[in-house]
Amino acid sequence: MSDPKRLVVNLFEMNTPGHITHGLWRLPGNNRERYTDIRYWTELARLAEAAGVDAIFIADVIGGYDVYKSSLEPALREGLQIPNNDPMLVVPAMAAVTEHVGFGVTFSTSYEPPFAFARRMSTLDHLTRGRIGWNIVTSYLPSAARNFGLDAEIPHDTRYEIADEYVDVLYKLWEGSWDDDAVLVDRERGVYTDPFKVRPIDHVGTHFKVAGPHLSEPSPQRTPLLFQASASKAGIAFAAKHAEVLFTADRPPGALDRNMATLRDAAVAEGRRADDLRFLVMATVITAPTDDEVADKLARYRAKASAEGAFIHMSVPFNPLEHPETITVREALEREDRHDVIAAGGLPLHLTVGQFIRAADQSWDSRFFAVGRPEEVADTIESWLDDDGIDGINLRQYHSFETIRDFGELVVPVLRRRGRMREAYVPGETLRERIFGAGARLPERHPAARYRGGRNL
Ligand SMILES: Cc1cc2nc3c(=O)[nH]c(=O)nc-3n(C[C@H](O)[C@H](O)[C@H](O)COP(=O)(O)O)c2cc1C
Repeated sequence: MSDPKRLVVNLFEMNTPGHITHGLWRLPGNNRERYTDIRYWTELARLAEAAGVDAIFIADVIGGYDVYKSSLEPALREGLQIPNNDPMLVVPAMAAVTEHVGFGVTFSTSYEPPFAFARRMSTLDHLTRGRIGWNIVTSYLPSAARNFGLDAEIPHDTRYEIADEYVDVLYKLWEGSWDDDAVLVDRERGVYTDPFKVRPIDHVGTHFKVAGPHLSEPSPQRTPLLFQASASKAGIAFAAKHAEVLFTADRPPGALDRNMATLRDAAVAEGRRADDLRFLVMATVITAPTDDEVADKLARYRAKASAEGAFIHMSVPFNPLEHPETITVREALEREDRHDVIAAGGLPLHLTVGQFIRAADQSWDSRFFAVGRPEEVADTIESWLDDDGIDGINLRQYHSFETIRDFGELVVPVLRRRGRMREAYVPGETLRERIFGAGARLPERHPAARYRGGRNL
């Protein structure tokens, strides 16, 4: 019999008080307001490593949520992803107090050119000794565009065209610009770097012009582990070509299978292998030793949930809470004279406002929602791996640090007994090796590899 499938676990974070569990920063004992304190991050990193999770994953946005009620005020009041600090800068602090846990950081390809970002990621790959990953996003907030000198958002598919060239520049810098043996540190001859083993990239494309060479010497993984979450046709085409770990939001069972199959088929059409992709779902685990304690904890969390937070986060372009629950979303939009929103599509117009409100916040209503005693929660997680075919989870935090403590102390021991998590980290392993079990670098069949040794530059 083959070994049971191992669970990949990312602890889902953001450098902000309110990420995806809306309103819960108000819970007594929740540390969210300490996100500005470096000790918040070092404590979190130690707890995540003690729990044996694969990586701490830090989301990011570069604008405020101001579509709901056409204002930033609700987001500011709710602490919803604003205030919001830089995700990359907390990584070295966490890396300094840990040995193994990985880090994923989110960065957008739409607004800052690639050269400086390439160096920042190489720096992080060096400082973490190969424990860094990058969540490639193209940024969905109109406010982000206005923060970077544009009047309006770049159209969705154009953002992916830009992203495609952006990562191409990065691959040239990360994979092609320096040979592995370029750095000599030869004290006798006085040669630090062999100049014949470093080359410019001279990239001239539609969106970017970058001379190079890369400023950083080769880091353990060179290209960080590549994460992405796509839903659209353009996003899926991009992910199939580039991404290694895919995040997916909640989907009904058939749709999740189809989404994973579509992505794997598209990756194979790009010359990659179906198992070059791993799929993680956003998941909830709320647990305690007894049923009563579980019920108490769930009630305690739910009592602080904010429905409005979900509307702000989803950029809902009308005010559901101001309409009777029995009318449809279409009728509510008509009452607000939002015929533009009706025409644009994208909202479930046929639902009643009541149904819409209840479905809005996935932190309370999702297929990947495990609430129970540790053994029950472990059963549910095992069914996600075996029946749904996913590879791992992005663990939603309801309470910092209760969520990671509960997971580490109560659920991980059960998952370890069942062979679903490893007993210990492998010393010196990079994040890519941990997730794929192969080398620290991208495989030869990935498009980044074509630039190795300065080929195809
Ligand atoms: C689990 C998950 C996490 C995400 N994290 C971020 C994030 O931190 N920042 C961001 O701008 N977008 C984030 N996104 C949005 C995706 O990058 C993407 O825009 C979205 O899935 C829609 O796909 P599309 O770009 O193909 O239309 C996330 C999506 C999912 C499902």
